[in-house]
Formats: sequence, C-alpha cells, structure tokens
Amino acid sequence: MCRLDQRKQGVEETSRASKNLEEIRNAIRNKYAGVSLSASGKFQYPTGQDGATALGYDPAIIKSAAAGLLESFCGVGNPFSLGKIGHGDVVLDLGCGAGFDLFVAGRLVGESGRVCGVDLTEQMVERSKKNLADANISHVEIRKVNSEHLPHKDASFDVVISNGVINLSPNKNLCFQEIYRVLKPGGRLQFADVVLEHEMPADLSGSLEAWSQ
Ligand SMILES: C[S@@+](CC[C@H](N)C(=O)[O-])C[C@H]1O[C@@H](n2cnc3c(N)ncnc32)[C@H](O)[C@@H]1O
Repeated sequence: MCRLDQRKQGVEETSRASKNLEEIRNAIRNKYAGVSLSASGKFQYPTGQDGATALGYDPAIIKSAAAGLLESFCGVGNPFSLGKIGHGDVVLDLGCGAGFDLFVAGRLVGESGRVCGVDLTEQMVERSKKNLADANISHVEIRKVNSEHLPHKDASFDVVISNGVINLSPNKNLCFQEIYRVLKPGGRLQFADVVLEHEMPADLSGSLEAWSQ
C-alpha cells in the first residue's frame, strides 16, 4: 500500500470512529429527551422522589423541591454525601439533567456562590432552565455542552459534581481531563456512577441502547 493510500485509510478510520461516537451521542440524546418528560419506568433502579429518598438526599431539600424537579431525577448515587459543599462555592454539575442536583447545589452554595450545569440533551437543558427559574434559583448558568469539551476557563470551580453521567461518555479520558482542567487547585470531584464488574456480553457491547441503560 502506498503512503497516500495509508493516509486515506487513516482518514476513513477516523471519520468512521467519529461517526460511531456521534451515533452513541444521538442514542443518548434520544433516551434523555424522553427522560426530560419523566424518568418513570425508564430505568432499572428507583428514580424521581423515591430514588432521591433511597439515595439519602436531605429529606428537607426533597420536600422543598417542586414535582417538576423530581420527576426526571435519575441519579445513581448521592454526590453530596462525599464532601461538604459550602456557602460561596462555585460548583459545576456535569450532565445536570432536569436540574435536581443543580437545585440541591444551588441551595448549598447560597446567593454568594454560583452553580453551572451542562448537559448534552437540548430538552434537558430547557427543562432544567425552567425548573431552576421556577425554584427562584438565579445564581445558575446552564448550557448545552458535551462534557468532553467544556467551555469553561481553567481553574474555574471549587467542586465538580456528577451523577450517572461519566459512564455515558464514549471518551471518559477526555471527560476526566476536562474536569481536572476546570477545577481550581485543591478543588474536588464528587461523583456517583455505574461501573462494569465483568466484561460486557458481545451482543450488549455493540448495542447503542446499552450505553444509556
Ligand atoms: C443520569 S442523568 C443525570 C441526572 C441528574 N444529575 C439529575 O439531577 O437528575 C444523565 C444526564 O447526562 C447527560 N449526558 C450524557 N452524556 C453527556 C455528555 N457527554 N455531556 C453532557 N451531558 C451528558 C444526559 O443528557 C442526561 O441528562
């Protein structure tokens, strides 16, 4: 094979790989567009208010959250149980969904702090903007962004939280690099996620749906 053919083959492989990544992202967007209306019946674990209660979120915060904030909640753990988030902190929520974790963070940082949410799915971004506005949380900024390419400056955040999102990213290394870049020196990552304990069966490892189960 001549050098030109090798280069062409390399370009074709790269564009095939990015097409596959885009297919994965589209499958995730489709799934979570539905979840932005309601998480009920769409996961194999408790979601909504039952999920938040089972994961040990502060009952007073759950009680104060409007139904719209809770009905799309599909977190897999409780990032707030991993370390204290205090008044004045600047917090980034990766994959903020319909905004329940953002709401909790907004309450903890108070008016002197700031919370930023990013999400890949347009409908989630719209829903969380509405939910946070309805909850009168004004020190918040929400953007439609892929967490593998964050628009924020280096060393912007005291804490990055994330709940059931990094497992969805086809390029987890990039995701962690970006988290490290945007955290201030001494800042913290507090995340909950799902991990594989065994090799995926072949029929599942090629399944687009399996990415967002
Ligand atoms: C399990 S939900 C997050 C739950 C959320 N923390 C809550 O309070 O309900 C996962 C979210 O991650 C988003 N997501 C998936 N991949 C992403 C990526 N690469 N970048 C940003 N968001 C992503 C999905 O659109 C979805 O809204």
